[in-house]
Amino acid sequence: MGLLLKIFIPLLGAALAFYFYSAPPSFKEEMLRGKRVIVTGASSGIGEQMAYHLARMETHLLLTARTEAKLQKVVEQCLELGAASARYISGSMEDPSFPEVVVREAENTWGGLDMLILNHIGHSTFNYFDGNVGHIRKLLETNFLSYVAMTTSALPMLKESEGSIVVVSSLAGKVGSPFAASYSATKFALDGFFSSLRHEFIMDKVNVSITLCILGYINTESAVRAISHVIRDKPAPKEECALEIVKAGFLRQRELHYPPWVVGTAVLLRDIAPEFLDSSIRSSYRVENLKRT
Ligand SMILES: NC(=O)c1ccc[n+]([C@@H]2O[C@H](COP(=O)([O-])OP(=O)(O)OC[C@H]3O[C@@H](n4cnc5c(N)ncnc54)[C@H](OP(=O)(O)O)[C@@H]3O)[C@@H](O)[C@H]2O)c1
Ligand SMILES: *[C@@H]1O[C@H](CO)[C@@H](O)[C@H](O)[C@H]1NC(C)=O
Repeated sequence: MGLLLKIFIPLLGAALAFYFYSAPPSFKEEMLRGKRVIVTGASSGIGEQMAYHLARMETHLLLTARTEAKLQKVVEQCLELGAASARYISGSMEDPSFPEVVVREAENTWGGLDMLILNHIGHSTFNYFDGNVGHIRKLLETNFLSYVAMTTSALPMLKESEGSIVVVSSLAGKVGSPFAASYSATKFALDGFFSSLRHEFIMDKVNVSITLCILGYINTESAVRAISHVIRDKPAPKEECALEIVKAGFLRQRELHYPPWVVGTAVLLRDIAPEFLDSSIRSSYRVENLKRT
């Protein structure tokens, strides 16, 4: 413990100093006016909130998810909020041909693309791993392979516009945590693929930024429904989370940690005190409230 404190406190100080004094490049909403943006998983939660922020910033929006009725409402709201234009295309990312369909829709309507925000996830239950390999296979298609496929199809347009790719991931994609093995696997895969691709872009002078967003617990309806009875933490607000993601993407940041304190500390501890982090992760769950399926 003594050693832990000796290392932890100075590092924490350094991390704090970094957060508060490394003045980030400033963000102005006008920077986004007229930009052409695709948002996936935009029918609810963080994706829906990103669409509203982008609408206020007067961007052109193409939204996608499965549920047409919800997308219709979000598009209407975006137009009211000031979007330069807003449309949707519905379909499932479980279908390997759908990513390409979405990107072609953007190409046909706009002739180009400035930002690709990859945010959707397929359904997974929060519980002990039940040995269902088929579920992981399906989830990899939705949460990971479709991200790769959309990036591949959109890349020529993004190169042309010197645009940005935003990948929404999770603390579960940086640090193992219980009851989310399949989900966590798909999120770790995103980090591997996109961190590798970022290197290649820089080495190959491809001026397309990649922003990986590492999120903690956020108060979206689906997350609260799935885990509020089992987790001790309070969720952070989805509206602010969505704005931070949009900003980080446009500022071409490498990674976003939100909420910064929780995620920043966990990522730091992962490397300097992994066992301490693991036990504090385990103690943040009310395991007695988990109904074993
Ligand atoms: N909320 C959190 O605590 C939290 C924490 C860490 C990371 N994140 C990340 O943040 C992102 C958004 O999460 P959220 O909480 O906002 O989730 P959410 O509210 O459940 O939204 C998920 C979105 O994905 C769509 N979707 C679901 N299945 C799909 C499929 N098969 N094909 C295409 N679209 C599909 C949903 O719409 P339809 O059902 O209409 O298709 C919805 O628009 C995710 O990447 C998640 O991993 C969230
Ligand atoms: C990369 O693109 C951004 C956005 O268009 C631009 O601000 C930046 O100067 C470009 N960098 C290089 C090295 O061309």
